[in-house]
Amino acid sequence: MAAEDELPEGTVQNILDQETLKWVFVGGKGGVGKTTCSSILSILLSTVRSSVLIISTDPAHNLSDAFKQRFTKTPTLVNGFTNLYAMEVDPNVEHDDLPNVEGMDSFLSELANAIPGIDEAMSFAEMLKLVQTMDYSVIVFDTAPTGHTLRLLQFPSTLEKGLQKMMSLKNKFGGLLSQMTRLFGVDDEFGEDAILGRLEGMKDVIEQVNKQFKDPDLTTFVCVCIPEFLSLYETERLVQELSKFEIDTHNIIINQVLFDEAIESKLLKARMRMQQKYLDQFYELYDDFHITKLPLLPEEVCGVEALREFSRHFITPYKAIEKGTVEELETRICALRTQLTEAEEELERLRKGKQKA
Ligand SMILES: Nc1ncnc2c1ncn2[C@@H]1O[C@H](COP(=O)(O)OP(=O)(O)O)[C@@H](O)[C@H]1O
Ligand SMILES: [Mg+2]
Repeated sequence: MAAEDELPEGTVQNILDQETLKWVFVGGKGGVGKTTCSSILSILLSTVRSSVLIISTDPAHNLSDAFKQRFTKTPTLVNGFTNLYAMEVDPNVEHDDLPNVEGMDSFLSELANAIPGIDEAMSFAEMLKLVQTMDYSVIVFDTAPTGHTLRLLQFPSTLEKGLQKMMSLKNKFGGLLSQMTRLFGVDDEFGEDAILGRLEGMKDVIEQVNKQFKDPDLTTFVCVCIPEFLSLYETERLVQELSKFEIDTHNIIINQVLFDEAIESKLLKARMRMQQKYLDQFYELYDDFHITKLPLLPEEVCGVEALREFSRHFITPYKAIEKGTVEELETRICALRTQLTEAEEELERLRKGKQKA
């Protein structure tokens, strides 16, 4: 393992410094802290960029929870900021803009059955097309759990397949579809050629964006995880998939780390030792990555104030209080006092309850 001073700095400062970045993806398993980390990254970026947009593509949206503010599918200014916008998009398809014709519907559903993910690909492409016209300095993605995100990055080939399938269906059925649409009195602009055209258009956007996604000057992927076996395993899978798709990644955020301070509980001490084992493996496997460690807090990270407070660990490596110092003893005594007070209160409550009975 490399010596401490040979490792890349354990912060996300490199992302803030990389002025060319346009797309920052944040991904990992559910519940590890993706939304928290992407929200904080967007807050930090807003201090060095002219405008920042954070987009949640996770169907289980929680940007609204993190910022304690409602967001919709159009970018909304985050309260307390002048240049930070947020939006939550539904990765599920919206067919509203297509005509509701029987022939068309079955054609589309046949297409959707033939190529799983095509509807998602289309709506993702529409969203990217929209976002590209908006001219944000940098866009942060709070992505859905791992498998979902990787599918998202496969969309260009998904669309490619979609187009091929369209062509073969068209050839197979000849003019049947257009006859049908005429029969139902549908305008030519809604005919199969229109759909084909729309797919072609999407493909252009996707191809263009995909080229940007593969450019390490423009795009990077931040992996969020926790120091546990499954998360280490998932992260490795993610990193390998990303390299397969030629998407740059060199930041890992390890969240919910227990630091050796004021831990009195035997259980937590045991958990801490377990975490250390996986932390060592992370450092061994990813010695060329910026690995940022975040402490597990006793409370949730909720609201702009809490996010801002927590953000300092993203730019200054967290340091556990040193053992055997006055500070450490003070912290320990403080924790013990809290425990004592809690136990006394509990006792008081129990006694009162008994008196009533
Ligand atoms: N280091 C931490 N300490 C304590 N709570 C945390 C920490 N990081 C995240 N949380 C909380 O854990 C919950 C899940 O985090 P979230 O960022 O929503 O995860 P994800 O988006 O990956 O599902 C949230 O309630 C968040 O406030
Ligand atoms: Mg989330």
